[in-house]
Amino acid sequence: MFLGSDYDILYNFFFYLPNAEKGKRISVGTILATAVSIAIGVLLLSTLSWCWVTRKKEKMIGDANDIINVESLQFDLSTVIAATNNFSHDNKIGQGGFGWVYKGKLSNGQEIAVKRLSKSSGQGAEEFKNEVVLVAKLQHRNLVRLLGFCLEGEEKILIYEFVPNKSLDYFLFDSDKRACLDWPTRYKIIGGIARGLLYLHEDSRFKIIHRDLKASNVLLDGDMNPKISDFGMARIFGMDQSQANTNRVVGTFGYMPPEYVRQGLFSVKSDIYSFGVLLLEIITGKKNSFYHSEYAEYLLSFAWRNWNEGTASELLDPILREFYSREEVMRCIHIGLLCVQDNVDQRPTMATIARTLNIHSVALELPQRPAFLGYERMETTQSTSRSIPESMNDVTNTELAPR
Ligand SMILES: *[C@@H]1O[C@H](CO)[C@@H](O)[C@H](O)[C@H]1NC(C)=O
Ligand SMILES: *[C@@H]1O[C@H](CO)[C@@H](O)[C@H](O)[C@H]1NC(C)=O
Repeated sequence: MFLGSDYDILYNFFFYLPNAEKGKRISVGTILATAVSIAIGVLLLSTLSWCWVTRKKEKMIGDANDIINVESLQFDLSTVIAATNNFSHDNKIGQGGFGWVYKGKLSNGQEIAVKRLSKSSGQGAEEFKNEVVLVAKLQHRNLVRLLGFCLEGEEKILIYEFVPNKSLDYFLFDSDKRACLDWPTRYKIIGGIARGLLYLHEDSRFKIIHRDLKASNVLLDGDMNPKISDFGMARIFGMDQSQANTNRVVGTFGYMPPEYVRQGLFSVKSDIYSFGVLLLEIITGKKNSFYHSEYAEYLLSFAWRNWNEGTASELLDPILREFYSREEVMRCIHIGLLCVQDNVDQRPTMATIARTLNIHSVALELPQRPAFLGYERMETTQSTSRSIPESMNDVTNTELAPR
């Protein structure tokens, strides 16, 4: 009955109301009732559809978040043991600061790299899991993908995608294998490392400072694309990332900036410093511990001297001298020297570096004196910097533009 009368009212409203003459048949009360019921109807309908859309949306967002959850990342120890032949000696492919790395093969044929963490982590299981999930969400083609973890008994294990062509140091610092790295390959590697670091520093949801960027932490895939490994280890291993000052200096001598070695201070600019050292290593084909006895200088001072004497092209790895882009090489040396500057604030950000590598017309500031730490003698560094007044330093550097 109600439906019937409701229908009548609606029918009247839509078909009789616009007609002024027939409209007279409808009382004011009916019109009011109609308006109210329509308003309620519209409100109900829109509320319902809004709820439906929101729920659907929420569900979609939820699904996206759930793509990576703890369960999907957890591997049984038995799986890992089967994949690595019970951590056999033959499967060992490397050793990092955090433990041994084994090559493994899952039953579906997928090749993996298994990092068995040494037991010194002070972190609880829950915290470890949370950090792994977080780091597993960082996905970029220039980062080694973390596939999962295993947490059983005393074991803390990380499972990564397997990257076939070993690491950058394996090629770069070997007199024969260095020939595999021609200039276009090296330039591609530099660009890839820059993109990976940019993602860690700025584009991912969590700002990650690598803290141990070096040639052996840059792995190479089948096409010699670089993949940064060991990122997020500080998180996974339970070291306080938010703290800008740490008592425990981790990292690799020669790649660590002076403010980190001396005061334990670190920031994204510490990674920038390491990136600069790595850049100079890639260009010269020399390790940062390289020592030039004639001038009694290490890699950074070797680079700085040649830059200032206008002989920067001397830095280039001799095996590259036949075929390279002078513009690209000079730009990379320039960026490298900007990154290793003693003054933390003057070191460029990864965004600036990535832009500079892509757009060649971007003007670069002149580099100031590098931090001659690492393998240089600290006393020399300190006395030199004290003896040059700030203003003098500026003048000197302006005059020392490369020719
Ligand atoms: C794996 O090796 C350990 C010792 O290295 C041994 O105790 C254990 O029984 C082995 N497990 C399997 C499944 O072979
Ligand atoms: C890199 O790996 C690919 C595939 O495994 C191989 O074909 C290629 O020869 C390797 N490159 C070098 C320089 O070893």
